[in-house]
Order: sequence, then structure tokens, then C-alpha cells
Amino acid sequence: MSEDGLTSGVDRVGDAAASAIAPAPTTGAAPGATISTGPRLRRRGAAAPTAPEEPAMCFDRATLAYGDRVVWSELSLTVRPGEFLAVLGPNGSGKTSLLRALLGLAPLAGGQLDVLGHPPRRGDPAIGYVPQHAGFDRDVPLRGRDLVGLGVDGHRWGFGRLSRDGRRRVEAALEAVAAGPYADAPIGRLSGGEQQRLRIAQALVGEPALLLCDEPLASLDMRYQQEITELIGDWARQKRGTVVFVTHDVNPVLGYADRVVFVVNGRWAAGSTDEVLTTETMSGLYDAPVEVLRVRGRIVVVGEGSGAGFDIDEPHHFPEPAGTHP
Ligand SMILES: Nc1ncnc2c1ncn2[C@@H]1O[C@H](COP(=O)(O)OP(=O)(O)OP(=O)(O)O)[C@@H](O)[C@H]1O
Ligand SMILES: [Mg+2]
Repeated sequence: MSEDGLTSGVDRVGDAAASAIAPAPTTGAAPGATISTGPRLRRRGAAAPTAPEEPAMCFDRATLAYGDRVVWSELSLTVRPGEFLAVLGPNGSGKTSLLRALLGLAPLAGGQLDVLGHPPRRGDPAIGYVPQHAGFDRDVPLRGRDLVGLGVDGHRWGFGRLSRDGRRRVEAALEAVAAGPYADAPIGRLSGGEQQRLRIAQALVGEPALLLCDEPLASLDMRYQQEITELIGDWARQKRGTVVFVTHDVNPVLGYADRVVFVVNGRWAAGSTDEVLTTETMSGLYDAPVEVLRVRGRIVVVGEGSGAGFDIDEPHHFPEPAGTHP
């Protein structure tokens, strides 16, 4: 039972060896079932749906593998339109792979996945994608405005050939992320936070229904982290867009995340932050003693025996998860 006495519990904790995680958080569902979202998981202020709504995405016992290497398995997770899903987990746990599955770039080895009502398909214009940041060369001959323009007509190159409507959309996207003042500067000369805003504008310019963001907060200081999170969270609320937000640190998104999925070494747990980020669930996922503390409104995860506390944004300090990497 969750802290507030509700029995909705974690959606599920699972992997191929889900039974190895004991004690299981309250699930109330058979393994593999798709659990409906409880009332407390609904977006704040949203009206109760009157009719069943097509999910924004639905993983049903989904397994992703590269060759023999199973990244995560038997993942069951349903996200409704307008929800904000935070994807958490240490390096190499399969967070980017989860986005790649949604983009149709990584086929499942088992189970099913539907995105916006159909199986994933590459180049779906209804999906905006902010890839894990690779950085821009300082001298790359590209202005922020050009980068955003590339998002208008898919991935076709050709600067300066946008239609009037395309140019209007670029302006609107630049305005949405407040990047107007530096939209004409060479992108490689901008700060990490400014570059990130432009990358988000590029993803939003296609007016997607679903926005996938892969570690958009990486290497940003706390103020920029908050700004970027607000930008994406506010977009979701205003447009009723669905967000999948990969992050090492859950704290910046605590006010936005309707639910989280934590993946580690093939295992996963999904539910609200209060349900997943508990000592019991995290210890089960890691198969090691892990303590989850709430300190001044922040969530801190501490591995027993590490000698020092560590934050969830420093996943490399987690205890080694059970099982072995190949
Ligand atoms: N195309 C690929 N072919 C083979 N293995 C891959 C491929 N992409 C990722 N992997 C492997 O799958 C595992 C998960 O990778 P993924 O990039 O999804 O992790 P991640 O959680 O995003 O990690 P990080 O936090 O470092 O970004 C890793 O062991 C990685 O080496
Ligand atoms: Mg990644």
C-alpha cells in the first residue's frame, strides 16, 4: 500500500525474473496486465475522462534486446495523452533504447508496443524528439533559426527555402522557448542552456502530440534545469501533449511527472514517484539495500555501505545491480 493509503500502488515491478524482486509492491494485477492509471496519477486539474481514451503509448510485456543482450523485458506501461512520464535509471540501463523503441528505431524482441494508436513507425511527424545531447562544434555554420527550421519539414535539408507557413512556425517555436534574442547567432557559440532551448524548439516546431526528450537537463546548472523543465512541462499542459522525459535526476521534474518508470539491469518499476521511489521498491530493483530519503522536498537515494550518500542524479554511485552485464 502506498504512503497515502491508496491501494493503486506501483503499476508493476517487473522483468523476466520479476518474481525475484521481493516483496513485490502492491500491484493488484496479474503480471503482464496493463494497469489503468489511478485517480491520483491523473494530471492535476484535468477533468475526469468521460469516455475511454486511446493511450498515447502502451507497452505490453515488451522486451528490447540487442542480439543476446536483453536491455529490459516484459515492460508493461500505459501512458495517457497529456501525461508526463519521467524515465529514470543508471547509465546503460536502456533509457535511450526505450525512446528508440517508441521511434521505431529499435524493434522489440517480444511483446507489443503501440504509439499514438499504432505500432511505432520511423519518422512519425506526430513525435518530436530531442536526442541525447552530443554538443555542437563551436564553428558549425548553423544559426539557431536554421536548426529549428530543420524540424519543419521532417529532416529535409535546405536553408532559406521554408514556406511562409514554415517561417511562421519557426518564429512561433523560437518564441515558445524565448530564444528570439540569440536565434541568429552561430549555434556553437551559445551556452548549453541556450542550445538546449533551440533543440526543444526544433522538436516542437512540427507541433507533435508526443515529445521525447533524452536527458535534456544534462550538463545544465540548476537554474537552467528548472527553466527547461518548466518549458517542457508548460508546453505539455497548454497543448495537452504527452512527454517522455529521460533524466538522471528526478528532482527537477517532481512537480511535473505524473508517473515514472525506473529501469535497471533489465528490471523496471512504474508508477507515481511516491510509489516507485521508495526504499522497498528501489532495494528490490537493485537487489541490494537502497534507502530513499526525502530531504527538503528533494528525493535522495542512498546505497547502504557506500560510505557516503549519493543523489539519484549520480547513478554511477548506485550499488552494482544484481545480475551481470555481458
Ligand atoms: N544499437 C545498439 N546496438 C547494440 N547495443 C546497444 C545499442 N544501443 C545501445 N546498446 C546497449 O544497450 C544498453 C542500453 O543502452 P542505452 O543507450 O539505451 O542506455 P541509457 O540508459 O540511455 O544509458 P545512458 O544513461 O548512458 O545514456 C547499453 O548496454 C548499450 O551499450
Ligand atoms: Mg541514454
